[in-house]
Amino acid sequence: MRVFVTRRIPESGLEILRENFEVDVFEGDSPISREELIKRAKGCEGILPLLTDSIDADIMDKTGIKAIANFAVGIDNVDISAATKRTIPVTNTPGVLTDATADLTFALILAISRRIVESDKYLREGKWKGWDPLLLLGGDFVGKTLGIIGFGRIGKAVAQRAQGFNMNIIYTSRSRYLEEENEGIKFVSFDELLKTSDYVTIHAPYTEETHHLISEKELDMMKPTAYLINTSRGKLIDEIQLIKTLKEKKIAGAALDVFYNEPEINPELIELDNVVIIPHLGSASLETRTKMAIIAAENLVDALKGKRPKNIVNPEIYD
Ligand code: GLV
Repeated sequence: MRVFVTRRIPESGLEILRENFEVDVFEGDSPISREELIKRAKGCEGILPLLTDSIDADIMDKTGIKAIANFAVGIDNVDISAATKRTIPVTNTPGVLTDATADLTFALILAISRRIVESDKYLREGKWKGWDPLLLLGGDFVGKTLGIIGFGRIGKAVAQRAQGFNMNIIYTSRSRYLEEENEGIKFVSFDELLKTSDYVTIHAPYTEETHHLISEKELDMMKPTAYLINTSRGKLIDEIQLIKTLKEKKIAGAALDVFYNEPEINPELIELDNVVIIPHLGSASLETRTKMAIIAAENLVDALKGKRPKNIVNPEIYD
């Protein structure tokens, strides 16, 4: 059997694939084009795509692939219902990237609040004239309210970190989590979270329902001193409205790991001082990317050998 990997991934994942299949890897230094993907995946039984590859019905039909093992926890790049209709198993990589993503979320919270990027730039530009009681003042975390939108694995891991900073933690989610509530983490409505948080951080999947979850109305509800942090998917935020809000200084700032139309960055966002922007690095630690490669490869092996993969996203195909 042949499988196609749409970009070089850590070797430990490729080794697992090579032990089981003939493996073709796209070696380009930017995401593969749709045409090239179809050409290379055609005739392969399985594909291991990245979140940058849109795997839709047309690709499934043109390539004839029989299993999709996404190298990400988010699966908004794969048309799951089209795969299910074709009884193609789809898998993702949950769990292994929870801590790395929560760590990066916290790094962004710290960076935007303590003005790390701005301060680094200030120093490199030779502007520092010596210690100054009023230079580059940021905000404390103790007692500040962290509002977590979406309380799955990553949202909870962010809450754990915030507990160490003695923050007041609130969350909003479709489900209630009583164990965490017993530890003092409070469930609130979406509106209350926006109105009362000093930091709003998004940890929800991107779906039709979460498209533009944060738009003009929601931004207007936020405190003028609040920060917005996003390490989930860019389209959860109406980016044009966010830029307008930031320009008008209606909120204090934003720290973003994900963008509306990656890898393009809205030039107006680059001009703003009150933002920290980094290139979609939530899971980007060596250990985590290695684990993601291993479980994506194991999922693909299982799926193609007729075994139900551990991280199946559309289990109904096995019914
Ligand atoms: C990263 O964004 C992922 O979904 O794994």
